[in-house]
Amino acid sequence: MTTIILIGMMGSGKTSVGHVLAHRLHLKHIDTDHIIEETQGQSITRIFESHGESKFRELEGNVVDKISKLSNVVVSTGGGIILNPINTMRLREMGTVVYLKGSVVQLKENLKEVTENRPLLKIHELAVILKVRSALYEHAAHFCIDIDGRSIEEIASEILKIQGL
Ligand code: S3P
Repeated sequence: MTTIILIGMMGSGKTSVGHVLAHRLHLKHIDTDHIIEETQGQSITRIFESHGESKFRELEGNVVDKISKLSNVVVSTGGGIILNPINTMRLREMGTVVYLKGSVVQLKENLKEVTENRPLLKIHELAVILKVRSALYEHAAHFCIDIDGRSIEEIASEILKIQGL
């Protein structure tokens, strides 16, 4: 059984790497942010604006709960998923949790063109968010992959290699 869960900061490439991995492994790709947007019929930004971050975190927890019974899937998560230890526990039980670890410089570079739908970046500095979360990502992950200077394809290949796939 192969279940891979990608965690990490905004801009670490979780969605893109998840897409490539799922394609290469012929598995279904699940993106927790997309599920939230679909079920709510609203963008992440809109949910943050109209209901606040705590409501978003509640919805995020519900999604983790729902998908935690699945196997043979690749899951791309929202950057804050590890803020709730119950999410972390469920994801670790589900499969191999991989932390896509990037420097602030690399994350900012990746986010240059895609800051919409990242409402937290309007409130907090990326470096501060990373500092607060760094240990949580490390603790949640079964292993880490350094993303700096590497393409999405290269990152996906390394994950498959480490997994022996
Ligand atoms: C968040 C990251 C976003 C999204 C929401 C909150 C975070 O997902 O879930 O804006 O707290 O880091 P990405 O990591 O896919 O950008």
